[in-house]
Formats: sequence, structure tokens, C-alpha cells
Amino acid sequence: VKSQSKSVASVLAFLVIPLSALAILTILMFTRGLTTPFLFSSFGLFAIVVAYVSILVPELKGAPWVPTSRKLVNRILSLTELKSDELLYDLGSGDGRIVISAASDFGSRAIGVDIDPFRVFYSRLRVSQLKLNNRVKIIRGNFFNVDLSDADVVFLYLEQQTNNKLQSKLEKELTRPNCRVVSLVWKFEGWEVIRTDEEDMIRVYKPRQRS
Ligand SMILES: C[S@@+](CC[C@H](N)C(=O)[O-])C[C@H]1O[C@@H](n2cnc3c(N)ncnc32)[C@H](O)[C@@H]1O
Repeated sequence: VKSQSKSVASVLAFLVIPLSALAILTILMFTRGLTTPFLFSSFGLFAIVVAYVSILVPELKGAPWVPTSRKLVNRILSLTELKSDELLYDLGSGDGRIVISAASDFGSRAIGVDIDPFRVFYSRLRVSQLKLNNRVKIIRGNFFNVDLSDADVVFLYLEQQTNNKLQSKLEKELTRPNCRVVSLVWKFEGWEVIRTDEEDMIRVYKPRQRS
């Protein structure tokens, strides 16, 4: 029930921006005498912009937003054996659920990277609300351009072709001893699998290192 109400809360949070825009337009309509067609065309335009930055761009750049199920978050981090002195990156951090759990349940530091400004806004809000700013940072940007050389653990829930494109970057940049890559659903070919939960499709890898 608790996790369901959290999911409802995150859906509502994503509706805050479009609903606020609709409210502002409605107020303008009554106070400035704007017409109903103006209201609907402005809202339609706004919806197109949101769909573009929040659906189309992530899809084209790596993967659409599909959150990891809440019941799997703890399982993933436990299987990774995440330690409190380690730094985890979530490439494509969505609403921040992985980085938040890494910091609040495992005491580690965590960095989330996401290209979608709405989800970055929401996840930063959650991080502040939970007073985790000293341990969690959210970067807005393309994870292909983020240096990962200080990572101990990299988590990904993306797509097979995005994992393939990231593989050589991870091999070059992940040089810390005992670094691991954890991927939900999608694989990395040619890397040693350290631990796996095939039922939930979680695989913890030791990435091959290249100089
Ligand atoms: C499948 S979701 C995973 C969300 C989160 N990691 C989780 O497990 O709940 C993929 C996320 O990657 C983000 N994304 C896709 N391509 C990206 C890119 N090139 N750079 C940064 N973020 C990206 C999307 O916006 C989306 O939030």
C-alpha cells in the first residue's frame, strides 16, 4: 500500500506542471477575456513541448522512462553489495528511486544522470525533501558526456542497443578496484557476471578494463 501510494504521488507530481499551466491559462481566460480556442491551443502546444522533452528525446538518446519496480530497488542494491563508502551512478536516473535508496538505505553516495528536465526537477525535489543533498547529486544531461572515472558502481536500466553503445565508454572509464556494473534486463556481452538473479533479470558484472 505504501509503495502504491508513493507511485500515485510520483504520477501526481509529474502532473503538477501541466495542471499548473492549465490553471494559469484558465485564470488568464477569465481575467483577460481570452477565448476557449486560445486556451486549448496554448495547452496543446504546451503538451507537445512536454511530450517532446520527456518522451521523444529520452527515447532517441537512450531509453524511454520506465521506472524500476519499487520492490526490485532494494534487491538490486543488495545483489550489488553496495557499501557505504562507495559511489554509485544511475545512468538515466528517472525519478531518482535508485540513487535515493542507495543513499538512504545503504548510506552510500550516489549520482543520477538524466536528460529529461521534468524528471530531473522532480528527483531533485525528492532529494531535498529527504535531506539527502549531501549524499545525492542529480546531473541534467546526456550520460554519454559524463565522466564516470570515480564510480564504484554503475546501474543501468536502458535498452540493449544503449548498453552496447555504452560498453566501450564503461571499459575505458571504470578503473576503480572492485567496480561493478549492474544492469536490469539488458546484457553486456563478454564481461564476467559476478552475481545474477535471472528471475528478476538483474546481472552484476565486473567490466573488462581497457587503457
Ligand atoms: C528505463 S528509465 C530508468 C529510470 C531509472 N534508472 C529507474 O531504474 O527507475 C531510463 C531513463 O533514462 C533517461 N535517459 C535516456 N537516455 C538518456 C541519455 N542519453 N542521457 C541521460 N538520460 C537518459 C530517460 O529520461 C529515463 O528517465
